[in-house]
Amino acid sequence: MSDTGALEHPYLGFGLGLRPQHFHEVLQQRPAVDWFEVISENFMVAGGKPKYYLHAIREHYPMVMHGVSLSIGSTDPLDMDYLKQLKTLANELQPAWLSDHLCWTGVDGLNSHDLLPLPYTEPAIRHLVERIDQVQSFLGRQILLENVSSYLSYRESEMTEWQFLGEVAERADCLILLDINNIYVSARNHGFDARDYLHAVDPARVRQFHLAGHSDYGDYVIDTHDHPIADPVWQLFREAWQRFGPVSTLIERDDHIPPLDELLAELEIARRLATVTAEEGSV
Ligand SMILES: [Fe+2]
Repeated sequence: MSDTGALEHPYLGFGLGLRPQHFHEVLQQRPAVDWFEVISENFMVAGGKPKYYLHAIREHYPMVMHGVSLSIGSTDPLDMDYLKQLKTLANELQPAWLSDHLCWTGVDGLNSHDLLPLPYTEPAIRHLVERIDQVQSFLGRQILLENVSSYLSYRESEMTEWQFLGEVAERADCLILLDINNIYVSARNHGFDARDYLHAVDPARVRQFHLAGHSDYGDYVIDTHDHPIADPVWQLFREAWQRFGPVSTLIERDDHIPPLDELLAELEIARRLATVTAEEGSV
């Protein structure tokens, strides 16, 4: 599978995670959001009201699909039923792209419902590359994989997270959804410099950014997605914009969902910072 890049994955601008609390308002008011990201698993059903809203909103906005259940790093066989449902939804929705996480969520059929980090080792890379290849072949398209935040590390790891991510993306010929907040959270938890991470990622592989809030407990940080975006993450976003140029940017909020206007105001901040950063040329 070749990387045909920008043609296959256009720059979409500034988007929001579509949440049920906002379905009606989005459809009625058509807010100034360039695109929406939807959680794939929430719509793997034949009908119902969420599906009605999904298709109605899709009429007016570009969409991308974001999954949480692929468990690409697990040693369990890939769940082909899940992949079939994912493909069916993608055929219906015609998203600009599909993404999931560079993680594992369980083993032996058990689901932890957590996005767990992997050991950064050569065998793990080979395992991932083989499975990503299967997924991309089955779906007939490249996928984006997102860096997860982490609170633990493995003694077995032989390289940094960013080296691991880069190797996987390169060898599997997949793309990257770079979560800026997750980089910040992991940098704080593990004591590395978030800028080292940013500057090591290959711009040719990055198709999307995530921005989100976190909970800061001083000694550690958790990506709770229930707060506005924090200042250090905005600063890192500016550095990312400077390094990677315009990349489709998405604000995700998964808990304590505020009124749509609050998220639109946050999206405006992202737009403004991107513009200022591009004009300044340096941060
Ligand atoms: Fe994310």
